[in-house]
Amino acid sequence: MNVLVTGCAGFIGTNFVYYYLRNHKDSFIVGLDKLTYAGNIQNFSNLKEEEKKNFIFVKGDISNLELVNYLFSVYDFDVVVNFAAESHVDRSIFDPATFVLTNVLGVQSLLSVAMSFWKKGDSWKSGKKFIQVSTDEVYGSLGPDGYFTEETPLDPHSPYSASKAGGDLIAKSYYHTFGMPVIITRCSNNYGPYQFPEKLIPLMVWNALNHKELPVYGDGKNVRDWLYVEDHCRAIDLVIEKGKIGEVYNIGGHNERENIYVVKKIIEILRNKTGDSKINESLIKFVKDRPGHDRRYAMDPKKIINELGWKHSFSFEEGLEITIDWYLNNLDWVRSVISGDYLKFYEKNYSNR
Ligand SMILES: NC(=O)c1ccc[n+]([C@@H]2O[C@H](COP(=O)([O-])OP(=O)(O)OC[C@H]3O[C@@H](n4cnc5c(N)ncnc54)[C@H](O)[C@@H]3O)[C@@H](O)[C@H]2O)c1
Repeated sequence: MNVLVTGCAGFIGTNFVYYYLRNHKDSFIVGLDKLTYAGNIQNFSNLKEEEKKNFIFVKGDISNLELVNYLFSVYDFDVVVNFAAESHVDRSIFDPATFVLTNVLGVQSLLSVAMSFWKKGDSWKSGKKFIQVSTDEVYGSLGPDGYFTEETPLDPHSPYSASKAGGDLIAKSYYHTFGMPVIITRCSNNYGPYQFPEKLIPLMVWNALNHKELPVYGDGKNVRDWLYVEDHCRAIDLVIEKGKIGEVYNIGGHNERENIYVVKKIIEILRNKTGDSKINESLIKFVKDRPGHDRRYAMDPKKIINELGWKHSFSFEEGLEITIDWYLNNLDWVRSVISGDYLKFYEKNYSNR
């Protein structure tokens, strides 16, 4: 099986490459990534020798038709898993255009090239699949009760989620209009190794270790449904294997936690692990809420559980321990990724909050 994994050098893409190569020794992955501030080629330095033989990295943009055409012509892909995206809500507020370019137009470019190789006349080559990796955020916000199902209407509230919804809809339109073998997955908040330290969990870990403020939006009571990244990778693997063309699958582990709970738990685990008494709740600073901040996300993953036999295997507290251990053992990785563009962005936009 030849698989094109786009956005392979980001957080979930990296974890997916490791997961897939470990579990499918007869597969070959071409990883395509533009290497924005969020992508890091060094992430692959821990691949084993036998895994390296089944993986090639290509630096490039999913919107680069010539390059993607070339890759399809050489590797005759069976599956595309599209992780490539601008993924940070805060950044989408400062620069929505970049999000539309990659998350909407980029998806369309990728679909068009895949279609040109997979469709011969009126018929499609068999066994092909285009997996569009999406997010619970496309559904908007929930009140205190209820869950997002695959039938929940899309109601995105941020430029990030709107651009992801746009990508989903263009992918869906390729299925309905052309019969393209598209499957959309929508996952809740992921956490785990290799996550860029602008997202809640690694940001809090890094700031706490450096005795810096822990900025919490609003009253800290926004709820997210957390999923350990390996559980997400396993779900996508199952969708590749057994997912039905044209379907949407929600992925979530019923691990709903308020942001303030997550931050306090990180403090507790870090203080226990390091013995550093300066890591305590006085570091928490409530800051002005993010515009358009969704209150609560929670997924109903019944469909993927019942139809594909998926089940999450990590509780939130278990996954958090593993994640924090990974960051403590990889502080050089954090130092190397938080330079340049990342620091400039935060100094420009957040220095006086
Ligand atoms: N992180 C989460 O909690 C979460 C949850 C649900 C869904 N998702 C989705 O999963 C996917 C991966 O998320 P992530 O957290 O790993 O994001 P990330 O920001 O860590 O990684 C994105 C990767 O895409 C690459 N990229 C960006 N624009 C590109 C382009 N035009 N061409 C090629 N590569 C490009 C970046 O260099 C980076 O390596 C995204 O589509 C995101 O919307 C993420």
